[in-house]
Amino acid sequence: MHIAIIMDGNGRWAARRGLPRSAGHRAGARAVRRIVEAAARAPIDVLTLYAFSSDNWTRPAHEVTALMRLLREHLTSEAERCIANGVRIRVIGRRDRLSDELILAIEHAERSTAAGRGLQLRLAVDYSARETILRAAGVERTGDCSAAAFERRLAAAAHADATHPVDLLIRTGGEKRLSDFLLWECAYAELLFTDCYWPDFDEAAFEAALLQFGHRDRRFGGSTAPTRAYAVATKSVRPQ
Ligand code: IPE
Ligand code: IPE
Ligand code: MG
Repeated sequence: MHIAIIMDGNGRWAARRGLPRSAGHRAGARAVRRIVEAAARAPIDVLTLYAFSSDNWTRPAHEVTALMRLLREHLTSEAERCIANGVRIRVIGRRDRLSDELILAIEHAERSTAAGRGLQLRLAVDYSARETILRAAGVERTGDCSAAAFERRLAAAAHADATHPVDLLIRTGGEKRLSDFLLWECAYAELLFTDCYWPDFDEAAFEAALLQFGHRDRRFGGSTAPTRAYAVATKSVRPQ
């Protein structure tokens, strides 16, 4: 099971409290820790978190700098915790526009958690689905135009190990759009939009999302015998 989350609403969470946007991003990083730990306890194979889109470069320089610093600090501080929980970290997206320090932190997090056999945590940084698709389509023709071959090129274009179809896409923050996230992979994803701002998204909200997903009927274009989404709902993901 693959869950993807568009973690939106940090800025509005901060504005509501009269705080700078960077405070919202810090609170968002704490929510990431909570949800990663909850996901590691649930029967979830892959969790992809949208941390920074390629279009987010258009934000004011001070906000981009704060986000990049936070990413670097988070990757460094969370690696130990991920090792302890068997979580494997991978960062997908472009790397050529990231700072050397951030690339080092990414490589360290990926290397030190590589033996993790539990949850596969993918952080999307400088990620654009359209650009990934264009790059995959533009690579040297191998003669193999099958979906499987294209998906291998798609994974390579995003620095990912493979292309995982999304089962459940969650977007916090109230907007109902994909903002250039996993366009190919979401072909049959169940979509769940919540008004909750990302820093407020906690284990109970995550569990409620899994419960809703468990009640969806997935048909994948077929007409008979809908497939009940998933029986994760019975298992608590809250800390014991
Ligand atoms: C999501 O929160 C975090 C990133 C996009 C990096 P926002 O910063 O987009 O918060 P809002 O949408 O302005 O509230
Ligand atoms: C999407 O959120 C990107 C991330 C959550 C990293 P945005 O806040 O950038 O998306 P738009 O601008 O509302 O579409
Ligand atoms: Mg936003």
